[in-house]
Amino acid sequence: MRKIYMFDTTLRDGEQSPGVNLNTKEKVEIALQLEKLGIDRIEAGFPAASPGDLAAVNAVARAVKNASVIGLSRSRVQDIDAVREALQGAEDPCIHLFLATSPIHRKHKLRMDKDQVLETAEKAIRYAKQYFNKIEFSAEDAGRTELDFLVQVTDMAIRAGATVVNIPDTVGYLNPAEYGHIFKTLKEQVPGIDKIQLSAHCHDDLGMATANALAAVLNGADQIEGTINGIGERAGNTALEEVALALETRFDYFGAKTGLRLNEIAKTSRLVSRLTGMVVPGNKAIVGANAFAHESGIHQDGMLKEKTTYEIISPETIGLKESKLVLGKHSGRHAFREKLIDLGYELTDEAVNAAFAKFKDLADRKKDVSDEDIRALLEEKLIDT
Ligand code: KIV
Ligand code: ZN
Repeated sequence: MRKIYMFDTTLRDGEQSPGVNLNTKEKVEIALQLEKLGIDRIEAGFPAASPGDLAAVNAVARAVKNASVIGLSRSRVQDIDAVREALQGAEDPCIHLFLATSPIHRKHKLRMDKDQVLETAEKAIRYAKQYFNKIEFSAEDAGRTELDFLVQVTDMAIRAGATVVNIPDTVGYLNPAEYGHIFKTLKEQVPGIDKIQLSAHCHDDLGMATANALAAVLNGADQIEGTINGIGERAGNTALEEVALALETRFDYFGAKTGLRLNEIAKTSRLVSRLTGMVVPGNKAIVGANAFAHESGIHQDGMLKEKTTYEIISPETIGLKESKLVLGKHSGRHAFREKLIDLGYELTDEAVNAAFAKFKDLADRKKDVSDEDIRALLEEKLIDT
């Protein structure tokens, strides 16, 4: 079976979400949960960013035993040395080097021409190679880089010793067809491409991060980078739980799977949300509070007859107990009757009908009708009759 490696950057790109700051203890707690989830590679931070981050990456490196631990580094010696220090004690260390390659970044940020970019990146990879067996190189803003230059950059990175080449859509600019085309072209045109792994790293500025990552899988990507709950810079990164469940649910289409223990997803999502303070939107795919909740009568009736009518994933798959049938103005008699049984009421058909009419009246005035509301409504009804 084709395996897609999962590279989690919740502790690095995810921590770059405005307002998020994780201390060492919190980083270790999240890293250990990511390890339980079965993440293959954990990017723990950017050691050159601050002494605190260096110490946190080191604590993660020492705590994690069953995943590769990664430190981010610009293509410069001081950063590489900071990652060397931070990854001391790691079971399976990896350095993640990056340098921007797009014309916009070359001109305005780096003030380098193409040759200077190639030379700087090559020197950094060769320097890091003295100390690391595993080196990932990222062509930052690859999404807006000329494709023929990206072929050259990838070729240089492989010759210099990179073991993974990452193609970030840093600003979330591409659509799935365009992003997939990059992977297809690199696979076809770069000699030696099959000796290394190709990685996808997408941002969600146009809401296409998961779709782009899946397009990369269809075109030969070996690894997907992302975060739990999709947190990250600006609109965030690819949500890893979405990729994992898309591959699992549509194996018939993608023909590839991750090695994640999917029933750890809900727990991991809650932990990341609690420690980062980033609330998961109710309608968020896979981990939102409403992802397994049904309100309309037609859907509830279908669910009560056969769950696959309206659920393509079972809540148990991600470690939740059960789906929720939420009572509101769209709900039907079938779900209402089930709720009464759940609450311990055994009523005649006539009594259920009368209570249902009162419930509909209440639901028109109140968005969510709670168990307490239903009890109150029934007591009132019993007094009425
Ligand atoms: O989005 C990006 O380009 C990055 C790189 C550092 C890989 O996060
Ligand atoms: Zn990023």
